[in-house]
Amino acid sequence: MVSGEVDVALPAGADADHEDRQIALWALYELHYGGFEDVDDDLEWHPTLLTLRHQLEGVFLAELRERYVAPESTEPFAEQLFAYIAGIDGPSLARFVQRNATRDQALDVLRARSVYQLKEADPTTWAIPRISGAAKVALVELQYDEYGAGVPDKQHSHLFAQGLAACRLDPAYGAYVDDVPVEVLELNNGLSFLGLHRRWRGAAMGFLAAFEATSSLPARQMAQGLRRLGLAEEMAYYYDEHIEADAVHEQLAVRQICAPVVAEHPELVDDVFFGAFTCVDLENRLAQALLDGWAA
Ligand SMILES: [Fe+2]
Ligand SMILES: [Fe+2]
Repeated sequence: MVSGEVDVALPAGADADHEDRQIALWALYELHYGGFEDVDDDLEWHPTLLTLRHQLEGVFLAELRERYVAPESTEPFAEQLFAYIAGIDGPSLARFVQRNATRDQALDVLRARSVYQLKEADPTTWAIPRISGAAKVALVELQYDEYGAGVPDKQHSHLFAQGLAACRLDPAYGAYVDDVPVEVLELNNGLSFLGLHRRWRGAAMGFLAAFEATSSLPARQMAQGLRRLGLAEEMAYYYDEHIEADAVHEQLAVRQICAPVVAEHPELVDDVFFGAFTCVDLENRLAQALLDGWAA
């Protein structure tokens, strides 16, 4: 197939059902990451696919905005953001793994997590050229940690892959995409959507802040749960690494990334909260989907 000669008929993206829309969006975003072996790399910027992506994103964004509950006040910013994130209720998957999950249920969680964790931090990297000054420097510092702080084997995505293999799960990128609930794709698509749109850079940073601020305690619970179940130490180690790392990252994300972003661009304050809400909202939907699936 010759690049640029691809004939792509535009399906009615907005009319597809929710699951098909999320699968299509996930596949379209993947063209911007590792792509697919049997898909022409030039399709990444094919105008018809970009039009379809735009349609799908419009529906997705409307769903996210409809669920968003704005904070009542936004001063002082950092404390308000921490309190706002902590105040969004939802089921805790990590607490369930810590106390109640069976081995199979814990493996389901790892399969679900693998879709993002094997490209951990990548969607946030899109935001680096979209912010500036002290916030950019702090974001690069945070991402440097995620990418192993100079040591390839310490990349968080690599640690997760090692953990999967040690649990006798498939560490290949995307191996479980067909097996996980659609909410996993929603979460991934939320990250990619915010990261790829300069318009939503404030929300991308709010998402990052919520992600980091809701990671340290759950990482401890996950590590305890995996050890309770006798699952591979390599997987527990991945979570051990996040107990302290994300306690640092949440401070970086809120005080040194989001705070300077909104100091420079006060018009982005609501977007930061929208991104933070969306992170917790999509995490809650994923947790509920897994819990419901096990209860069925
Ligand atoms: Fe990480
Ligand atoms: Fe982190």
